[in-house]
Amino acid sequence: MSETYYITTPIYYASGDLHIGHSYTTLAADAISRYKRLRGYDVFFLTGTDEHGLKIQRKAESVGLRPKEFVDGIVAKIKDLWRVLDITYDGFIRTTDDDHKRTVQWIFNKLYENQDIYKKNYESWYCVGCESFYTETQARSFPGMVCPDHGKPLERVQEESYFFRLSKYAERLLRHIDENPDFIQPLTRRNEVVQFVKMGLEDLCISRTTFRWGIPVPFDPESVVYVWIDALTNYISAIGYPFDMEKFNKWWPANVHLIGKEILRFHAVIWPILLMALDLPLPKQVFAHGWLNLGGKKMSKTMGNVVDPVELTRRYSLDAVRYFVLREVPFGADGDYTEEALIARINSDLANDLGNLVYRTLTMVRRFTEARIPPAGREEAVDREFKERCLSLKQAVEDEMDHLRISLALERIMDVVGKANKYIDEVSPWDLAKKDPSRLGTTLNYLCECLRITASVLRPFLVNTPSLIWNALGMPEPIDRYSWDSAGEWEVLTPGQVTKRGKPLFPRIEREDKDSADEQASSDEKRPAGEVLPVAGDSIVQGTRTKAGPATTIKEDAGLITIDQFRQVELRVAEVVSAEKVQGADKLLKLAVSLGDEERQIVAGIAQYYDPQELVGKQIVIAYNLRPAVIRGIESKGMLLASKDDETLAILTVDRKVKNGSPVS
Ligand code: MSP
Repeated sequence: MSETYYITTPIYYASGDLHIGHSYTTLAADAISRYKRLRGYDVFFLTGTDEHGLKIQRKAESVGLRPKEFVDGIVAKIKDLWRVLDITYDGFIRTTDDDHKRTVQWIFNKLYENQDIYKKNYESWYCVGCESFYTETQARSFPGMVCPDHGKPLERVQEESYFFRLSKYAERLLRHIDENPDFIQPLTRRNEVVQFVKMGLEDLCISRTTFRWGIPVPFDPESVVYVWIDALTNYISAIGYPFDMEKFNKWWPANVHLIGKEILRFHAVIWPILLMALDLPLPKQVFAHGWLNLGGKKMSKTMGNVVDPVELTRRYSLDAVRYFVLREVPFGADGDYTEEALIARINSDLANDLGNLVYRTLTMVRRFTEARIPPAGREEAVDREFKERCLSLKQAVEDEMDHLRISLALERIMDVVGKANKYIDEVSPWDLAKKDPSRLGTTLNYLCECLRITASVLRPFLVNTPSLIWNALGMPEPIDRYSWDSAGEWEVLTPGQVTKRGKPLFPRIEREDKDSADEQASSDEKRPAGEVLPVAGDSIVQGTRTKAGPATTIKEDAGLITIDQFRQVELRVAEVVSAEKVQGADKLLKLAVSLGDEERQIVAGIAQYYDPQELVGKQIVIAYNLRPAVIRGIESKGMLLASKDDETLAILTVDRKVKNGSPVS
């Protein structure tokens, strides 16, 4: 039987739409779950919603709905979000589920019977945003008695309540933390908790009487259970406690509770003590990650600085968003979200490095070995070194992922991608094609093996890209049929297998820069050198000659290129079928062009020089095999050629009619 792995996210308040900050925890849990499944674990990945409490009751009232109706609507949207992000959860718990309520009441009874709960009069400060009590001293330490996380004034509460004897278990908790160094991670969080517990724990108020939206205390229905006790219990109610102990024993203790750092004390103090009082083992780890900030502040709905994950995936693709979120911030630390950072990651890591590697490798295979993966031939030291580097990638990813260092795992993968791009430059396959076919075979074969390994180890993180690479390599079976361990093997490809011309993986994201736009005959000129046609290791900047620099730069031979290199740019004749201005962008025109059996859309920075109607019917010349770019949210496939001097711009046309799609050579 395979080893089990139980991982949880916090259950999110069903009080409003979730933002990219919430998605961060869930995406991390998803990557870890996918990784563990690939490693052969029997995984249970739990997420869900926290639906009771004053905050939600007030929200529902504010929109004139009953609380249950209100949360049902939010939960449906949260589930939609997880579908969009392709989150592979195995369980979704709602604290309004009957089974969960039954467990919470059972626990309350049990603790009461064991005299870990008692009743007393209580007066305290409360933040509805945190759903948390604050002592007089804590409250006074907040400037203006305003919650620093939620920016709302604390409320005074006074009621007769049930209390949980936290203090009784403080010593035992400290001992557990001491004996289990991995229990609270990262280390700084562990130290924070130890310090907090050492300052002395006060018993915790665990019931409320001033509102109704909660689970009633079983023997005192005027009181409802404190929302955090209700919420924390989800981690065991979802796996059957105490009514299905077989299921419970299969999964408990959890391997890891992933949480944001602001809810550390609930998870590393209250939760373990509750489990101790129930005589249950503690989770193996509570991992508190940092925040995704926006403008230096924690992204939060209350603070009004949130980013919508659905909108992001729509604009930039799911894998790009998944990559950014998982790669950008070292797991555990805080990080800042900016759209610039997201675009920079997409362009540098995904388009330039990974996309480029796939594209140039498959282009060479197509060109030099009739699209078939060649057998490896003679091997030199540089090939061997590259092969070993690729073969060690699986282990490197495991070393990081086994410690939940998600961002570093992705860094390791991208290191190998970078290495592969360098390897191409070093061995110059286009030269080998002329001089040394045996080593050309080795090089292309190794590069394809490298792509296979890369695709395979990307599986925990990206959900579409791995199979796209896989299919482009012409693998006989879908990627899911291949084990994780196969990423540590060589010669998995069958020489002779036919590669396919795949879709470009990640189009570069172009942002129209107002000031420089008029320097562009085509907005595609903004592609940096070396990016446009990523073959043969040369740097070819396409487009017309501009003030910014020469049209063509070549690394070798003082600016001269070979005929082979020139041929790598596929130029074709296309007829403009329609043209229109791009709304909100003075300089851009959107053209539909016909290439005979194919129609394409091209965005070009020529609006100042041409009236759209003037272009319709013209046969122009386009760079056909250019990776698509997204300009102002519009996909542009190919680039028209034009010439520009100080005053005007002229597009290239043919001087007599030829069939649309004809090559220009
Ligand atoms: N309902 C409680 C948790 C109960 S768990 C037994 C709660 N819910 S929440 O909706 O506020 O979600 C909190 C969690 O969302 C955080 O702990 C964190 O995992 C995630 N995040 C919310 N905003 C975040 C960021 N800006 N950055 C990173 N994670 C964030 O607290």
